[in-house]
Amino acid sequence: MSNQPIGIFDSGLGGLTVARAIIDKLPQEEILYVGDTANTPYGNKPIATVREMVLGVMDELASRDVKMLVIACNTASAAVLRDARERYEVDAGIPVVEVIQPASKAAVVATRNRRIGVIATQATVTSGAYKDAFAVVPDLTVVQQACPRFVEFVEKGITTGDELNEVAEEYLAPIKAAQVDTLVLGCTHYPLLTGLISQHMGDEVTLISSSESAANEVYQRLVRENIAASGVDLGNVQHRFYGTGTLDAFAPLARRFLGPIVGDVHQMEISR
Ligand code: DGL
Repeated sequence: MSNQPIGIFDSGLGGLTVARAIIDKLPQEEILYVGDTANTPYGNKPIATVREMVLGVMDELASRDVKMLVIACNTASAAVLRDARERYEVDAGIPVVEVIQPASKAAVVATRNRRIGVIATQATVTSGAYKDAFAVVPDLTVVQQACPRFVEFVEKGITTGDELNEVAEEYLAPIKAAQVDTLVLGCTHYPLLTGLISQHMGDEVTLISSSESAANEVYQRLVRENIAASGVDLGNVQHRFYGTGTLDAFAPLARRFLGPIVGDVHQMEISR
């Protein structure tokens, strides 16, 4: 069991930032990554639609003997968290890690002035998942901003340029005006825009990556559940990458962002 792969998925490239963080912290673990490229982006769809898509991908991963499911997408986490706990953790015994709780906890630890910003997809903002996560902490001011076009740029491999700068200026102005000292990158695509976002926000604002926070949670869960890989020859660790839709753009960009470990990207059929 413990040397089975960890199943990770996102709508596209964003979850690779979670995969990267997990690989860095847990080099003996094998990753089975799925980009649901047939349905990307999730963030501008109704939560009920995202839920159907996400459960299809998670069912497929669960059927492939993964030892843990990582919802490497904030929008998907907002859509299925409670369902996923029942369906996979309780019914199938597969631990599920999502990205919203770990990022919220890290932001609460980081803030000094108790003012936290959250940037995310429209669906994540509308779901109120971050507001709910922060509601249990007293005396916090939380300001949310949807940044729908950021995903579009990342999926094209664009992280600089005038157009992106103008979009960032517009999205981040209300967050800056709210004088937050901590900003949650509440979409796993956004760590690929860290340079741009910190340039706009300034060095004094701490950026919390939902991807890094989720990877820490993966580490802790594997150890707690006693299912971390062991005795693995690092030269034999084989990660596998899949896309559910066209791979023409996804495969080269995945290699660009994650490096040669991506290797071949295969097609995965999802019955929905
Ligand atoms: N990476 C996903 C997230 O964390 C969203 C991208 C999309 O809109 O599909 O929310």
